[in-house]
Amino acid sequence: MSEKIKDNIFELQDVCFRYPDGSRGLEQCSLSIHSGSRTAVLGANGSGKTTLFLHFNAILRPQSGTIVCSGNPLNYSRQNLHALRSRIGLVFQNPDSQLFSASVREDVSFGPLNQGINKQTVRERVEEALCSVGMIDCAEKPVHNLSHGQKKRVCIAGVLAMQPDIMILDEPMAGLDHSMQNDLEILLQRLHADGMTILLATHDIDFAYRWADRILLMDQGQDVVSCTAADLSKETEQLHALGLGIPNVIQLHRLLAAKGLLPPGERQPLSFTELVGFLEQRL
Ligand SMILES: Nc1ncnc2c1ncn2[C@@H]1O[C@H](COP(=O)(O)OP(=O)(O)O)[C@@H](O)[C@H]1O
Ligand SMILES: [Mg+2]
Repeated sequence: MSEKIKDNIFELQDVCFRYPDGSRGLEQCSLSIHSGSRTAVLGANGSGKTTLFLHFNAILRPQSGTIVCSGNPLNYSRQNLHALRSRIGLVFQNPDSQLFSASVREDVSFGPLNQGINKQTVRERVEEALCSVGMIDCAEKPVHNLSHGQKKRVCIAGVLAMQPDIMILDEPMAGLDHSMQNDLEILLQRLHADGMTILLATHDIDFAYRWADRILLMDQGQDVVSCTAADLSKETEQLHALGLGIPNVIQLHRLLAAKGLLPPGERQPLSFTELVGFLEQRL
């Protein structure tokens, strides 16, 4: 096994998937997800982000092409799928697709109980997971009484309680208010700092640029750009073509450079804090 493959949790090569009605889900899609990375996937509605995510935990299976997981071709046997879904935590975009138990506590307990973990450990994990998402006070509430944002947080807790190696979140920020989005961003930073690989879909280019270390751009079922966040500024044309726009901080940096307030050849800042640092050195 090559070093390159060992460092990737997933490698897709020429993966094609069509839905039964003939809709194109993925088309010759090739990409890799680096172990330990924070990867943001962007693309218009219908570009294949959700279809891609459903392939990672084997809910969908490619009709052609290969998926390699931690160096081995993905194995779709029942026994392996059980192990795979413990390692690969998927948070669905729509919480109603994921929640099915009567109470919040029951729902978050379901995954780890299904993993065969003893009840005391499950109780501890559930407490910890609900605290992480700020939902411990709602532990005994019926799931159907929760708001959309609360349901999303319970879904995240359910995945966290399984302690996966990689967490995949399909548009986690959608439908959350500003304060919940901030809390989620902090949680994602903490999980990554603790060693988790995180992959998420988003429509927010500013958040993606600020948060991710790798960015994938999807179009018509293909990964058309895979780059580091630091190299995203080189993809201006693709970003415009896909209607994603340029991150605000890059636009401001370019304007300041054009006005001679910053040297033109300087590296693009990754955040407003970094840009302010550049300015403080100059002004
Ligand atoms: N269950 C389905 N049946 C038929 N077509 C589907 C289904 N789910 C998604 N598609 C189609 O597959 C394509 C990719 O969709 P999707 O992966 O959901 O994109 P995204 O998540 O980027 O919005 C779209 O054309 C969409 O209409
Ligand atoms: Mg989607």
